[in-house]
Amino acid sequence: MIIEPSIRSNIFLNAHPLGCKSFVLDQIEEAKQFPKFVGPKKVLIIGGSSGYGLASRIALAFAGNADTLNISYETAPKGKRTGTAGWWNNIYFQEFAKETKNIHKDFVGDAFGSQMKKDVIDYIQQHFGKLDLVIYSLAAGARFNEETGNLVKSSIKAIGSDAIGKTIDLADLTVKDLVIGTATEEEIKDTVYVMGGSAWEEWIHALADHDLLSPGFKTISYTYIGGPTTDKIYRGGTLGKAKEDLEHAALRMNNFLSSHYQGEALISSSKAVVTKASVFIPQMPVYVSCLFDVMTRNHTHETITAHKYRLYKDMVYGQKRIVDSEGRIRLDHLEMEEETQRETIHMMTTYSDAEILSLHGTEMFIKEFHQIHGFMLPNINYELDTDIDALAIKQPE
Ligand code: NAI
Repeated sequence: MIIEPSIRSNIFLNAHPLGCKSFVLDQIEEAKQFPKFVGPKKVLIIGGSSGYGLASRIALAFAGNADTLNISYETAPKGKRTGTAGWWNNIYFQEFAKETKNIHKDFVGDAFGSQMKKDVIDYIQQHFGKLDLVIYSLAAGARFNEETGNLVKSSIKAIGSDAIGKTIDLADLTVKDLVIGTATEEEIKDTVYVMGGSAWEEWIHALADHDLLSPGFKTISYTYIGGPTTDKIYRGGTLGKAKEDLEHAALRMNNFLSSHYQGEALISSSKAVVTKASVFIPQMPVYVSCLFDVMTRNHTHETITAHKYRLYKDMVYGQKRIVDSEGRIRLDHLEMEEETQRETIHMMTTYSDAEILSLHGTEMFIKEFHQIHGFMLPNINYELDTDIDALAIKQPE
């Protein structure tokens, strides 16, 4: 099959397996160049097949020598469907991780469900051993409520009044105006249920109930704060309410973990990067393009792998933690620098659509958006036939 990019409403409908392989390998090669550090030995990543979860897994496995378990919700190839990028990322992570001689195991399915908890707990008890770190890095559009039998959906909406912004349409590469509607109380509640902290807390308490947490155990999740240009759509909107809930869950768990394990529950406010989840958020494409442009010029731009490596080496297991008044680790301090924000806002508010589209930062953004789905990798010949079925049989048990 010849696989060409297929994009609708800023969502990729397909992925290129060999491109995903090359992209995962690039991230691994990058992590292998970093100085090694002593971090956690046994790690569970909930949402580790792409984006921040995968970058965390790679940094910890290749620069921190960790054993890793990953839970992700991905789709295998079938017929003419290529399967999702995360599905291929799991396969190729496993292939390359053999050289670490450590344990790396994937669970593909719903992390919100009780069956997944049971399967993972059984595996940890029988084969893996107690955990030193749990990373909660889910970005989900829906969560099935087993008590009510309802599928609850999250929404990306403003609160109080509509938000007006711009986005880049990645299918036809144009800048488009957009209006984000105002959420109802129900939509806010549902978004908090899907993207807030309750499922994270359920995981930690289930693992603690089965005595699967080591002394000094830590857990961490990723929040986003951002600046004034994304505030109405992100932090001040439905997603921001979910993030507040996630942050409150961390405070509650921190009390529990510190008294029972001398451990901690952490929140890291991480920088805006190009992932499946972030591109989907209106305004983010324009913001991230301008931000990348400024940060590259100022030599403060970091790759996603370097960002997570620095989080674990310096701030979670090292002595260089930067914390704000609410106890959140501010890994995003370079994004939030006053001059960086000032320049980014200036570009977003004064540049024409054509000027935004011609930025080096926009070129980086578009390329990364393709690369996370296995396209635009320099060493792949996209005109060649790809035998998906032959590649897919590598899926580990
Ligand atoms: P992503 O879309 O790349 O990754 C999401 C992960 O969640 C994937 O591994 C996916 O398989 C998994 N997942 C989704 N639903 C699932 C389910 N029901 N069961 C099991 N796994 C499921 O997203 P990204 O951007 O890496 O997001 C991860 C976290 O980082 C989110 O909490 C996000 O808010 C946060 N964050 C992201 C930033 C960004 O710029 N991308 C900035 C700051 C925080």
